[in-house]
Amino acid sequence: MYRFLFLVCIGVALACVPPDCKNEDCGTCANACCILQFTFKASTDDVDKLMVDSLKNGGDDGRYTLVNNSDYRPYNMSVKFMLQTIHTTKVHHYNDTQDWLVSEGKEEGTTVVKAFSISNIYGAYCDAGQNYKNLVGFVKGLNVDFKQEAIAGCPPPKE
Ligand SMILES: *[C@@H]1O[C@H](CO)[C@@H](O)[C@H](O)[C@H]1NC(C)=O
Ligand SMILES: *[C@@H]1O[C@H](CO)[C@@H](O)[C@H](O)[C@H]1NC(C)=O
Ligand SMILES: *[C@@H]1O[C@H](CO)[C@@H](O)[C@H](O)[C@H]1NC(C)=O
Repeated sequence: MYRFLFLVCIGVALACVPPDCKNEDCGTCANACCILQFTFKASTDDVDKLMVDSLKNGGDDGRYTLVNNSDYRPYNMSVKFMLQTIHTTKVHHYNDTQDWLVSEGKEEGTTVVKAFSISNIYGAYCDAGQNYKNLVGFVKGLNVDFKQEAIAGCPPPKE
């Protein structure tokens, strides 16, 4: 029982720094996570370059590290790049891992990015909205128009 209470308190103390903290996830991936899909009116090469350039400065908040940017272009598949990043939260310095699947969209010249973020610490049942923020905050920081869809986890708040 004490252990349970302790873990719930970790969830509360994660302390996402607004904005974009309202889509809290609780246990979707057997830990807190968020999956979204973003569509851009730009080529996969351009979107990958925007992402990598942003990551040179740590992304929108300076707290992302690029783990790798795998190039799938030689394999003639719709997926062209797979990036992995780590975001370190401002409060408590918790790490979360993001995976970004950069593919050609159905319409010529468009790009679809499937984006995943998961809390790395054990027992993060709820994430105070941090995984959603890790994805949306970074994409907003690219300063290009995008469309956003929910895939799994991190539901909008109940009004
Ligand atoms: C990083 O990505 C490059 C380019 O796709 C690949 O050649 C390399 O093996 C990857 N490195 C790691 C550590 O996965
Ligand atoms: C690449 O894939 C497309 C669609 O699957 C196919 O039509 C094309 O022949 C392939 N090109 C090469 C070089 O394999
Ligand atoms: C968090 O990620 C950073 C950047 O990749 C790394 O240097 C650090 O060791 C990680 N911390 C933990 C606790 O895993």
